[in-house]
Amino acid sequence: MLKGIFISLEGVDGSGKTSLKKELLCRLDAFHPLGLREPGGTPISEKIRNLLLDTANEDMQARTEAFLYAAARCQLVETVIRPALQEGKMIIADRYIDSTLAYQGYGRGLPLDFLQQLNQLSTGGLKPDLTLLLDVDPAEGARRRAKDTPDRLEKAGLLFQERVRQGYLQIAREEPQRIRILDAHKPLGTVVGDALREIQQLLTKKGWNQPGS
Ligand code: TYD
Repeated sequence: MLKGIFISLEGVDGSGKTSLKKELLCRLDAFHPLGLREPGGTPISEKIRNLLLDTANEDMQARTEAFLYAAARCQLVETVIRPALQEGKMIIADRYIDSTLAYQGYGRGLPLDFLQQLNQLSTGGLKPDLTLLLDVDPAEGARRRAKDTPDRLEKAGLLFQERVRQGYLQIAREEPQRIRILDAHKPLGTVVGDALREIQQLLTKKGWNQPGS
């Protein structure tokens, strides 16, 4: 039995996950949360991240991509996430298994049952206690990150991001207990408030009302 609390943040590129994660880490500081991002979070996973996001790797096949995300995640789960949860820590992860279903499944068109098996194999079935889905129109997401240089996935275009968005909404409909949808068109402060309300409910359910309890 894992004692910790595992929260993941999901959404299309530019949905504001990274800003939300920063705010949550700050607001939940009393719980000493551990912030992670995928792909990445371990030396091996960061190397895989470079392969995945490198715009030179244009001919990367969809299944190759799926296996690489799974490999990066496997390393992160085994060396960081599971040990931290065993110690009773709180984890806030920028992306996890739902990204694979949304991007490689709904975005790239790989079969969902293959990806579900891959997620199961790479994580040993470990799911977050709570997933916050930041739902935003991909065109708005693109405007928000217009100043950044796009990586390989971001270059896939708006239609791709729209499929990813609809995929996320479908995944959320299938697991309404775990996945809560937040309207990420709202200003960051409002989204942070909405996220904290969801997290508070989870803390209460787990009997975590006092930091360290
Ligand atoms: P990143 O720069 O971290 O983007 P973001 O800040 O939006 O998370 O790049 C991660 C990219 O990898 C992003 O475009 C989504 C993609 N991705 C997948 O396609 N599948 C996955 O399983 C994961 C974890 C990420």
